[in-house]
Amino acid sequence: MITVVGNLKGGTGKSTITFNLAIWLAHQGVHVIALDLDPQATLTDVAEIRAEEALQPLLHVQQNRSLLHTLAGNSEVLVDVGTADIDAMCLALGCADQVLIPVAPSQADIWSTQRFVRIIREIDESIGRQPRLMAFINRADTNPAISETAEAEAALDLLPGIERLDTRLSQRTDFRRSLSEGMAVFEMEPGCKAAVEFAQLAHRVFPATPGLPPAMRQG
Ligand SMILES: Nc1ncnc2c1ncn2[C@@H]1O[C@H](COP(=O)(O)OP(=O)(O)OP(=O)(O)O)[C@@H](O)[C@H]1O
Ligand SMILES: [Mg+2]
Repeated sequence: MITVVGNLKGGTGKSTITFNLAIWLAHQGVHVIALDLDPQATLTDVAEIRAEEALQPLLHVQQNRSLLHTLAGNSEVLVDVGTADIDAMCLALGCADQVLIPVAPSQADIWSTQRFVRIIREIDESIGRQPRLMAFINRADTNPAISETAEAEAALDLLPGIERLDTRLSQRTDFRRSLSEGMAVFEMEPGCKAAVEFAQLAHRVFPATPGLPPAMRQG
């Protein structure tokens, strides 16, 4: 299955989420192929740090877009796309079985998500297929008094054909710290709030997988 993580807006967490999902699946023995189609190459960089730190399982990141047409079989393919290479982004969207759209809780992010969904629809119509489209809020404020997250979720609910995942990732330093060390958030601190939120997200995106081994779930 090919899962593309994308959105038009920068900094919504595409690379962070692609990386964490890839490691989450790899810990369950799934054969993962990570494809970095963003010239910024964040996914490639984090995988290099991981290799330097000799962290297992290793993540092999490919940058060759033509692999999209040859990859298949029992692998889970995770693709990180950005707007710096629109052609690669559209190519990946045209091959996707599912598209995961991280959205930051702001009006500007909602607008760009609407545009992104329109682009996906145009691609779908031109090639006659329909991937699963999922959106969720990343970088939610941890202060429950801030209403932007709920408002952004309500706006996502209004987008037709989109499955708004009933889980969010909050703005937590653990995501930044773990990424800079080449680690998934649940590896750096199993059981931390960020890890618990991430596991909920991963289960929604890959419902058929059993989840992490018990040692990786506890604090
Ligand atoms: N939930 C979160 N909490 C805290 N920091 C986060 C969270 N999600 C992402 N970040 C951090 O925000 C920054 C941007 O994330 P990331 O690079 O994954 O976004 P992106 O969408 O891939 O950006 P770009 O559009 O530039 O490719 C990174 O430093 C990342 O660690
Ligand atoms: Mg990125």
